[in-house]
Amino acid sequence: MRELIITGEHPLQGEVTVQGAKNSVLPILAATLLTSSQVELRGCPHLRDVEASVRILEALGCTARWEGENLVVDTAGLNGWTISDILMREMRSSAIFLGAILARCGRAELSYPGGCELGPRPIDLHLSGLRELGAEICEAGGMLHCRAEQLTGREVVLGFPSVGATENLMLAACGAKGTTVIANAAREPEIVDLERFLNACGACVSGAGSSTVTVEGGRPLHGGTYTVMPDRIAAATYLCAAASAGGEIFVRGARESHLSTVTAALREAGCQIRPDAAGIACVCRERLRAVGPVRTAPYPGFPTDAQAILMAALLRSRGTTVFEENIFENRYRHVDELVRMGARIRVSGRVAVVTGVPTLRGASVRCTDLRGGAALCVAALGAGGVTHVTQIGHIDRGYQDLAGDLRALGADVIRTEE
Ligand code: EPZ
Repeated sequence: MRELIITGEHPLQGEVTVQGAKNSVLPILAATLLTSSQVELRGCPHLRDVEASVRILEALGCTARWEGENLVVDTAGLNGWTISDILMREMRSSAIFLGAILARCGRAELSYPGGCELGPRPIDLHLSGLRELGAEICEAGGMLHCRAEQLTGREVVLGFPSVGATENLMLAACGAKGTTVIANAAREPEIVDLERFLNACGACVSGAGSSTVTVEGGRPLHGGTYTVMPDRIAAATYLCAAASAGGEIFVRGARESHLSTVTAALREAGCQIRPDAAGIACVCRERLRAVGPVRTAPYPGFPTDAQAILMAALLRSRGTTVFEENIFENRYRHVDELVRMGARIRVSGRVAVVTGVPTLRGASVRCTDLRGGAALCVAALGAGGVTHVTQIGHIDRGYQDLAGDLRALGADVIRTEE
């Protein structure tokens, strides 16, 4: 059976280089549809979600090939606008293709993206924004039948700063006539990376990183070469691994400006966090302290994707930490698995109360979702004995080689494939 076998209580020591950001490269892959030639994405992570996106591009008539760490996409052969139900269900964030397909083809047919382990994943904000830009979208039988003879730029106000809706509207706006202003836009660093990619292809996008993104539409986009930003959640994972196991590591490529709420919590817990131009050093010598309430929020608030990972790092801290998950409805599924390792966690609705225990013990645990799976590994590094982590396909969606990266930091992690 495919699993990770982790022997804990070994302090970490070493250096790891952060992979390209999953949540940046996925919208960028959708954005390649706006160009009509070749795009080379440097530092593209080899992930299950990237492979799923490549299958969607290939189903639309595009080509993609790996050249080492670089992915070369060519959309000249685009010959369709339909994404099958099977492909849509492979990856929940495939809705991000809708805006780009509409902008390029004037029509799109795709099935309603399913929910996922984190709960229902509605796309009402995506659809209402696209309708305001002139798309006609009929929802029938689980399918989205979309047409847009001409998208027209205007101001669109998002009811919530949704990352995916912001990205979808940025891509659609590139194909719209005139100017689009996205108000109450998401401010995540991945939005900035998407703006930089689009402008490198000849678009005129500004304001990403603020709550107002402006797109001057109707400009033909060309291909080119782009280097994907480092994955801030992968970086947070390694910092929390060191916090959990103790030791001294260096995370090359990590940018503290992208995860300052996570490093602030780790400093409060007693870790020494030392950023420099090349990355972030993290030294953890003492038993951690519990920290003040951790409330997830849209960027620049505490990232929901790091909630489980920080929780895992604090399981043996002195005191009690309160978590409040405000982004997703069902993002505590990792808790029951952590309790199997001896953690003391009580969940009530959006709140999880973590009371530190002196020791954790290895157990057989099962990944429930991508970041929950990473959290199990972080906890296992601080547990006595051996932990068997199964259902690791969830982890492969977002980490290129979590086992190899943790081994580079001195962890005792074996991945079995049978
Ligand atoms: C992106 O998901 C990320 N995924 C998620 O990372 C991340 O957790 C999330 O942003 C928040 O930062 C990718 O970028 C591929 P949202 P997305 O739209 O775009 C609700 C990971 O582990 N909502 O900001 O789906 C939604 O239900 C993944 O790497 C609506 O109600 O996030 C959720 O409760 C997990 N209607 C909240 O907003 C909509 O139309 C945030 O969603 C859209 C969203």
